[in-house]
Amino acid sequence: MDRRGFIKRSFFAMGSLAAIKLLENPLMAHDMDTVSADKTQTEMKRIMIIDGGPRRNMNTAQMLQKFAEGAKSVGNDVEVKTVRLYDMDYKGCMSCMACKLKGKASNVCRFRDALSPVLDEIAQADGLVLGSPIYFGEVTGQMRAFLERLSFPWLSYNDYSMTAPKRMPVVLIETMNGMPERNNSNGFGTMEGCITRVLGEPQHIVAYNTCQVKDYSRYELGGFSEEAKHQWRDAHWEEDLQKAYDAGRQMASQSTF
Ligand SMILES: Cc1cc2nc3c(=O)[nH]c(=O)nc-3n(C[C@H](O)[C@H](O)[C@H](O)COP(=O)(O)O)c2cc1C
Repeated sequence: MDRRGFIKRSFFAMGSLAAIKLLENPLMAHDMDTVSADKTQTEMKRIMIIDGGPRRNMNTAQMLQKFAEGAKSVGNDVEVKTVRLYDMDYKGCMSCMACKLKGKASNVCRFRDALSPVLDEIAQADGLVLGSPIYFGEVTGQMRAFLERLSFPWLSYNDYSMTAPKRMPVVLIETMNGMPERNNSNGFGTMEGCITRVLGEPQHIVAYNTCQVKDYSRYELGGFSEEAKHQWRDAHWEEDLQKAYDAGRQMASQSTF
């Protein structure tokens, strides 16, 4: 089993353990005041794209842009919104516990800052796309902070169940220096377990061996062969972008919204 599979299985094992605990002690079960989606509000399909990379127009941003193009190509009834986390001033989970207040528990974060409207929009969206470069084997710090705010309110400490206002298709996009056969990426790590349980099994798109800079000769990057990087890019980059585009089309075309 690979590392990603191990993390995922451990997460599910944790969930089962919690369920057993609950069965042993039914008094722990307590209804959560969940926010439910307003399905009748509009026929428009709304897809939220969250860009967890700092660089405009570089690998991650280009992949997400292609996804957006693919989704929009389906028709006018698809609304696609891209949010750049690095342009926003927000915090990770502040442990304010407002989402777990007695009688006022909520499965959408109650802490108010610049991220609040984004989390509110995701709660009612029809599809979610998360993109991040891989930093030290994980998604970026901004993406992780965002995921804390997204996921902690899903979790009930009464019965360890996890619920979002609605389930939706999810696509996770990673870009990295690593190669398919040799990389250090945990990707979205344990947060992927939360997403799978609550929103649904995500689709993965990974762009490997990306060009980190346009001109390698300007930097101390002797560990990389610029020629090999460009060869890889010539052979794979268009295909990677196409995968993102196709995933966008597929998400926007889904009838299960
Ligand atoms: C701080 C930092 C840490 C990185 N760590 C990794 C890593 O652990 N594994 C990897 O494969 N690539 C790593 N990379 C390379 C980036 O993931 C890769 O270049 C990515 O495609 C950059 O995305 P961007 O062009 O959208 O910024 C790192 C880059 C930076 C700046």
